[in-house]
Amino acid sequence: MSETSRIPPERSVMQQRVEVLQEALPYIREFAGATIVIKYGGAAMTAPDLKASFARDVALLKLVGMNPVVVHGGGPDISRYSDRLGLEVRFVRGLRVTDAPTMELVKMVLVGKINKEIVAQLQVAGVSAVGLAGDDGGLIRAEKAEHEDADLGFVGRVERIDARVLEHLGDFVPVVASVGVGVDGQSYNINADTVAGALARALRARKVIFLTDVEGVFHDFADKGSLISECSRADVEGLIAGGTAGSGMIPKLQAVVDALRGGVEAAHIVDGRVPHSVLMELFTQDGVGTKVVQA
Ligand SMILES: Nc1ncnc2c1ncn2[C@@H]1O[C@H](COP(=O)(O)OP(=O)(O)OP(=O)(O)O)[C@@H](O)[C@H]1O
Ligand SMILES: [Mg+2]
Repeated sequence: MSETSRIPPERSVMQQRVEVLQEALPYIREFAGATIVIKYGGAAMTAPDLKASFARDVALLKLVGMNPVVVHGGGPDISRYSDRLGLEVRFVRGLRVTDAPTMELVKMVLVGKINKEIVAQLQVAGVSAVGLAGDDGGLIRAEKAEHEDADLGFVGRVERIDARVLEHLGDFVPVVASVGVGVDGQSYNINADTVAGALARALRARKVIFLTDVEGVFHDFADKGSLISECSRADVEGLIAGGTAGSGMIPKLQAVVDALRGGVEAAHIVDGRVPHSVLMELFTQDGVGTKVVQA
């Protein structure tokens, strides 16, 4: 051991560390044994340092007695590989038009690459994880999503969640790729927010947390002073109907409503660009981002 590493930190620093632990204690007690579904996406999924800190946060939740369940999509990686393979990338109202070759690619990237990377990162952070897609154990039954004005191909909606396979995982952290499967075995590309909401509902999770690349939900996205720190399910329904939420925020808010209607206590939308935002939300008095409660 070197000379310097034997010098203890200053007493005040040690005191601060203990205080941090003490502030967290009531929350650790409150959430022990609780299922927390976390939608992993946006910036936290692309920057290497944020990926590692996210994995450590999930590991910590697991090690203090919670049951985290991670749900992820694919985002920029799918577009990148589509370009490489010369497949056309097209979005209609924020949804990826998914023809048969694109669906094949979505599965390869989401299930084969991204899912396994998250599992490996969690392993490095000290917890054992198991990667699943919707076809494993019949977890996510999907059907084609119908849209009035466009055929989006193999874009799906959740028909049914059968979460029994997760009960068999015991202490392993599930990492779920947002791909569903139809009764005929056809795979469907489903928005990861939608899957997170449906899974939280099916698992009767205590909380569902969405990591995104903004501070939270804004009343008016053009006005940075309008961040909503807490609101009710009815408020969120109003935001969707009122048209102030755009693009990627719409499926997120719909997933929040779906989860809360299904009995999930609270949903949080937090800034994934900030390291440890999940821990700040769960273990501090004020939290960060937007919290949505039943009423
Ligand atoms: N009222 C609003 N409040 C906050 N963000 C909004 C609002 N309306 C639209 N948005 C947009 O929603 C985006 C978040 O959704 P988006 O689908 O882009 O990211 P994500 O779901 O977090 O990540 P990914 O889709 O990669 O998993 C924000 O970056 C913002 O541009
Ligand atoms: Mg999104």
